[in-house]
Amino acid sequence: MSQAIRKVEYDRPQGAVCSVGQAWARVPDAPSTAERVALKERIRALLKREKAVLVAHYYVDPELQELADETGGCVADSLEMARFGRDHEAQTLVVAGVRFMGETAKILSPNKRILMPDLDATCSLDLGCPIDEFSAFCDEHPDRTVVVYANTSAAVKARADWMVTSSIGLEIVADLHAKGEKILWAPDRHLGSYIQKKTGADMLLWQGSCLVHDEFKGIELDLLRAEYPDAKILVHPESPEGVVALADVVGSTTQLIDAAVKLDAQRFIVATDLGILHKMRLAAPGKTFIEAPTAGNSATCKSCAHCPWMAMNGLANLADVLERGHNEIHVDSALGERARLPIDRMLAFAAEHKRRVQASGDLARDTALFSQVGAA
Ligand code: 13P
Ligand code: SF4
Repeated sequence: MSQAIRKVEYDRPQGAVCSVGQAWARVPDAPSTAERVALKERIRALLKREKAVLVAHYYVDPELQELADETGGCVADSLEMARFGRDHEAQTLVVAGVRFMGETAKILSPNKRILMPDLDATCSLDLGCPIDEFSAFCDEHPDRTVVVYANTSAAVKARADWMVTSSIGLEIVADLHAKGEKILWAPDRHLGSYIQKKTGADMLLWQGSCLVHDEFKGIELDLLRAEYPDAKILVHPESPEGVVALADVVGSTTQLIDAAVKLDAQRFIVATDLGILHKMRLAAPGKTFIEAPTAGNSATCKSCAHCPWMAMNGLANLADVLERGHNEIHVDSALGERARLPIDRMLAFAAEHKRRVQASGDLARDTALFSQVGAA
């Protein structure tokens, strides 16, 4: 594996001020075509040998996504990754994504072996929300229900009442708000303020951000939209307010892919990690996808719309981890048990929400059917 290191800067909230944190990401070698073919063959065989299943996020290398799909694993958003890993019978899960995704899998399945291609694949939201500072923040506001985003450490989750992902955060906060609860939200300030505006909930926000989505630029996106007036704009809610304001659809990675399939448009401008374009092109062949702008004319981009930590997942380190069984995720069992409570709450809420949506869909379909029958 290459040891080339890339320096990464991220938002480091400290009380009311936000400074710049310094981090790094390993840059994996790009194998040759022949090496890639051989590595994929080895991975298929090793997955069988280890009776393992590959659980990948939409932002990782397209070849890892294809391997996950073709070997009976899954490629999904963070909510579905958690659910799939918990429910799959395999005792070894290989999580291609970032560390919080591996930790969530371990918390939900403490008896399974969870491996990751690179344990140093982190997330700027996780880095920007250290447990000591976060815990002190919670202590200052004991009257608030603590809701944390999935992109956090096990310790931060263990301090929370609820965990949410981008696909269900809005519904959970709306529900808590309807019950009169005041929210302490962490760590993503953009997702937090999007949910706050949508629900009207009383939310106190931690000031973290995703270094990929924080870079999308509203002014440049508006100019691009003028160039392609027929295009629909798809935005992940970790993006800044000015970008979200221009969106036709705001949603999790899975919700954005669904929108690309279902919307009656041929062209889309996409404001999320460009790893998602692979799945969008497969799911909606013939449609055109354009990357949303990440930098102004004079600025250079920090992430260029691709997460440096997701990029640490490669074919070589995936094969290596399966061969040698190293890079296993461990979570202290007492901490894991506590961290599981907010995740289980979310999964139970999401299952109930899905059931209700399906029932109302059935009702709408039945009503349409009945009205057609009535009209005839
Ligand atoms: P999703 O849950 O929408 O896949 O998002 C995870 C993530 O890290 C986005 O940056
Ligand atoms: Fe974290 Fe952003 Fe990377 Fe997602 S894309 S893992 S939020 S840094």
